Amino acid sequence: MPELALLGPAYVVPSTGNLKAKRTMALETKPAPYFTLRWNGGATGTLTLIDQTLLPEQYAEIECRTVEQVWEAIKVLRVRGAPAIGVSAAYGVVIGAQTHCASPLSHFQQRVVEVADYLATSRPTAVNLFWALDRMKAASKTLAATSSTAAELHDKLLDEAIRIDNEDRAMCEAIGLHGSGLLSSGMTVLTHCNAGGLATAGDGTALSVMFAAAKLGKSIHVFADETRPLLQGARLTAWELQKRNIPVTLICDNMAAQVMKEGRVHMVITGADRIAANGDSANKIGTYGVAVLAKHHGIPFCVAAPSSTFDLAIPDGSHIPIEQRASTEITHGFGRQTAPDGIAVYNPAFDVTPADLIHAIITERGVIFAPTSETIREHLAPRIS
Ligand code: MRU
Repeated sequence: MPELALLGPAYVVPSTGNLKAKRTMALETKPAPYFTLRWNGGATGTLTLIDQTLLPEQYAEIECRTVEQVWEAIKVLRVRGAPAIGVSAAYGVVIGAQTHCASPLSHFQQRVVEVADYLATSRPTAVNLFWALDRMKAASKTLAATSSTAAELHDKLLDEAIRIDNEDRAMCEAIGLHGSGLLSSGMTVLTHCNAGGLATAGDGTALSVMFAAAKLGKSIHVFADETRPLLQGARLTAWELQKRNIPVTLICDNMAAQVMKEGRVHMVITGADRIAANGDSANKIGTYGVAVLAKHHGIPFCVAAPSSTFDLAIPDGSHIPIEQRASTEITHGFGRQTAPDGIAVYNPAFDVTPADLIHAIITERGVIFAPTSETIREHLAPRIS
């Protein structure tokens, strides 16, 4: 890591004056006062989610009682962020199978497959969705051998979903600890989209690094890109960091270059939705541009993601399916028409940052510097059978 002095002038909080006072606050980072997702009850329970489409204006929770509600919540981004989508989908399988608990075991198993395949159609890019659904399908297959009824197998599938949920929380914590070693007091980190607690079952990936650093007493300042067109950076990251007492400054996406040029950014940390075997990483649209800017300005660009975000079945980023979303997200953002009727629109929701622009990938197992197919394979080796 370069000396801070070489990375440009220290960040000065505009117009608030007392930088020292602001930074002291960061030492008192607060635990998350919200649960992004939560299972209620036993096997006949429901899934409660924060409706993230309403933030920051309104904090409201929704209760999913059917698999269709879980599918819709993922599709329209009430729950979003790769790990949170995966955990929600695992619970979605449990919910979708509830109606078949009195059926013969084989019919129940068939239902599990149908429900998982249905949930897989909600969004294409975050591999955590398919990872969690495959795991639920595999659990159903394996655990059927030791279950005498559908209800018994269903109980075991709920246990599996809870395990996925708990593992995600633990992975976030470990990512935070590993990543916090990259940050020293006084650094300013730029992030894009939301890779915080709202994107996971736990404390997030990229933001977990900042929370962990702050807990260790390091003074960190964050620049949050607003993240066009759905403003996850403005609506969610800024909200989360503010709630957790981490000093944050919001910028429009097109300001990142200027802010970097002014020497205000020491590191970029983002999340990822899918990382190919060679380290190419898909994340929210605009991330690739940030990585190019970081390279130009000599700023380390890091990705924080759990091992469930790696897709070792694809050799590089060209194989990552990129979600295309409705043109109205651009022409009628948040209910107001901002483009002429009939205008042609292209709205890819993700882009792929090539591995050679990535300084390091932070996972729950440690840090992969200058990621390549070899170093990634080695890093994830215990997981490969
Ligand atoms: O469309 P979204 O809001 O689901 O996109 C989310 C992101 O791009 C996140 O950065 C990514 O999922 C990582 S979340 C830990």
